[in-house]
Amino acid sequence: MNRSAMSGTALAKERKELKQQEADAAKKGETKENLASSWHDPMADPDKRKFASDMRAAARDEEVPEWKKTINKPGQAPTKRSEMSMKEQRESLPVFAFRNQLIKAVEENQIMVVVGETGSGKTTQLTQYLAEAGFANNGMIGCTQPRRVAAKSVADRVSKEVGCKLGEEVGYTIRFEDCTSPATKIKYMTDGMLQREILVDPDIKRYSCIMLDEAHERTISTDVLFALLKKAMKRRPDLKVIVTSATLDADKFSAYFNECPIFTIPGRTYPVEVLYSKEPESDYLDTALVTIMQIHLTEPKGDILLFLTGQEEIDTACEVLHERMKALGPNVPDLVILPVYSQLPPEMQSRIFEPAPPGARKVVIATNIAETSITIDGIYYVVDPGFVKQNAYDPKLGMDSLVVTPISQAQANQRAGRAGRTGPGKCFRLYTEAAYQSEMLPTTIPEIQRQNLALTILMLKAMGINDLLHFDFMDPPPINTMLTALEELYALGALDDEGLLTRLGRRMADFPMEPSLAKVVIAAVDHGCSDEMLTVVAMLNLPTVFYRPKEKQSQADQKKSKFHDPHGDHLTLLNVYNGWKNSGFSNPWCFENFIQARAMRLAKDIRNQLEDTMKRHRHPIASCGRNTQKVRQALCAGFFRNTARKDPQEGYKTLIEGTPVYLHPSSALFGKQAEWVVYHTLVLTSKEYMHYTTSIEPKWLVEAAPTFFKVAPTDKLSKRKQAERIQPLYNKFATEDDWRISAQKKSGRT
Ligand code: CDP
Ligand code: MG
Repeated sequence: MNRSAMSGTALAKERKELKQQEADAAKKGETKENLASSWHDPMADPDKRKFASDMRAAARDEEVPEWKKTINKPGQAPTKRSEMSMKEQRESLPVFAFRNQLIKAVEENQIMVVVGETGSGKTTQLTQYLAEAGFANNGMIGCTQPRRVAAKSVADRVSKEVGCKLGEEVGYTIRFEDCTSPATKIKYMTDGMLQREILVDPDIKRYSCIMLDEAHERTISTDVLFALLKKAMKRRPDLKVIVTSATLDADKFSAYFNECPIFTIPGRTYPVEVLYSKEPESDYLDTALVTIMQIHLTEPKGDILLFLTGQEEIDTACEVLHERMKALGPNVPDLVILPVYSQLPPEMQSRIFEPAPPGARKVVIATNIAETSITIDGIYYVVDPGFVKQNAYDPKLGMDSLVVTPISQAQANQRAGRAGRTGPGKCFRLYTEAAYQSEMLPTTIPEIQRQNLALTILMLKAMGINDLLHFDFMDPPPINTMLTALEELYALGALDDEGLLTRLGRRMADFPMEPSLAKVVIAAVDHGCSDEMLTVVAMLNLPTVFYRPKEKQSQADQKKSKFHDPHGDHLTLLNVYNGWKNSGFSNPWCFENFIQARAMRLAKDIRNQLEDTMKRHRHPIASCGRNTQKVRQALCAGFFRNTARKDPQEGYKTLIEGTPVYLHPSSALFGKQAEWVVYHTLVLTSKEYMHYTTSIEPKWLVEAAPTFFKVAPTDKLSKRKQAERIQPLYNKFATEDDWRISAQKKSGRT
């Protein structure tokens, strides 16, 4: 059966059925309330219940799908954690039984791996146990998280358990947000932040213990921290390190840390029944929503968790699901729909953990953040389309892009496991069993092997680590990826011919951002436009500031076009920020102009922090006033790789590899005749789109990156080219002879 085709008509039918039931009930003298109450407790008499979907199938004379036939026993009612006291909640976690053993193990070992099911209490409890055992008396207890939201929400939770205000004894630090104080004893932070701290303090003297949490996620920062902490532990015998992991990797981690002990917290898990699609799904989003509604209308109590790939997709899904639920009318039990992704507004964050009101069911629609980073109690059903949005890096093109890719088998199993936390659950996989077996990798490839390493290498170099080929990586990145990163840093002027850090490179490392952005900020100082550039860079750090609700798109677009700068999107961002600033940073102004106020406040915070960094390192902040050409010139200093030229046929071609790329329809340059452009990122959807695009003059590229671009010899050029006087030669290997890195490249290639 093709489930994705069912949505519209089937739901209308379902609505009709419900209406009919209601009418029948009225005839028999039953009240609406009676009918409703049978919905509220769908398991009152499971044998007598008819499943709406089965009824639909019967009505259409269709076969009941296989995955419907295997419906298992009803789950138990979720334990009401919310009704327990904080102390009781803490003591109900699996990890509690091992509290004293864990403390003893930490006292006896400098490092150990702790393995435990998600939700057993590792993240929230271990830090507290250590503090209670006195480890916080001579240094902080630091706990790293791969994700910002997790760091924040866990710190919030633990501060409540400890009974302090967030930021006092318990705090968190994520990029551009520091919520700690001198009183902080337990500090949650992103792994990237700890990496940054090690840059200025290699022995991390402020900490007595470090917990590298969610290590199985294998983010680049966690991988780098493995090696850095391994070194630091040698110099500091009193430093304690705990690495937490999912079962799969524990042995590997232990082997890496010289066969350190593994502490296993037995999980409290229930069986999860896994159901596969019979046929590949053509539209996983629609299928997912249909599946959710089927679960809601036909399955026993228990909340639902759906995994999607990103914020936009999740918001759309929430909206559509809401509409479809509304269309079912008032007799269907409530479905509380909650999105979860890393850019979630703070007021939404705590809502995810609240139980649904009596009679209602909760559906959480999340990115892979809900795989391990955060645990939501009461989930009985998992819907898994089998995709994740991942950073992919093409070292040949030197291009980073976010692509939706199939998850690994390990991820699929982790997702399924989310359904078995509170009772026996079910996982609906929206892919075939054959796809699981043959199309999914057994485990996820660590990020360090699939991402641009320029920032990581810049930081390692700034720490004085020059011999990257012999750096103690758990899984070394591909040689080509390292070499491209070295080349990129060389072209940016961060490394010299010897591959050593330059003064410029050291200054770039002070900024917590991609080297190209750091370079742009420093270049802006020379161009006398650092004031403007700080704003542009702060704005580039946000997902988007424009608010474009479905029902008011044209109105929103019209407002947006008022900010459009004829030279492109970077200056458009500047216009937006300045407009807001001139309004006195007003919220109503944002509302009127379809600008997201929360994003703007974040931009202001980021800008303030960047300004602090500038002042700390004595970079003057100067404004170029109306001469915003300087901003565009400075952009070239960092983004000369991301340049393209208008193609006579259609769209643009990148200068480096000649890849066809396109202006995004939302760009201020769309429909304009910009010949040469620089862009911030490429986003691959239906086409390769440039995001944030600004027009430039080619000669700025030669000034910005002389090792990268050359003025073409005029005598060898055609008339037309002579007129332009420039040929942006991609000069990647020009310095091959005298550049040590290039020599390595040769050997790396053979
Ligand atoms: O780290 P691990 O997955 O082992 O568990 P945890 O994150 O420490 O979660 C332990 C319990 O705390 C779970 O039952 C969560 O639901 C709860 N928790 C919460 O209520 N609010 C949070 N922000 C984080 C965890
Ligand atoms: Mg955890």
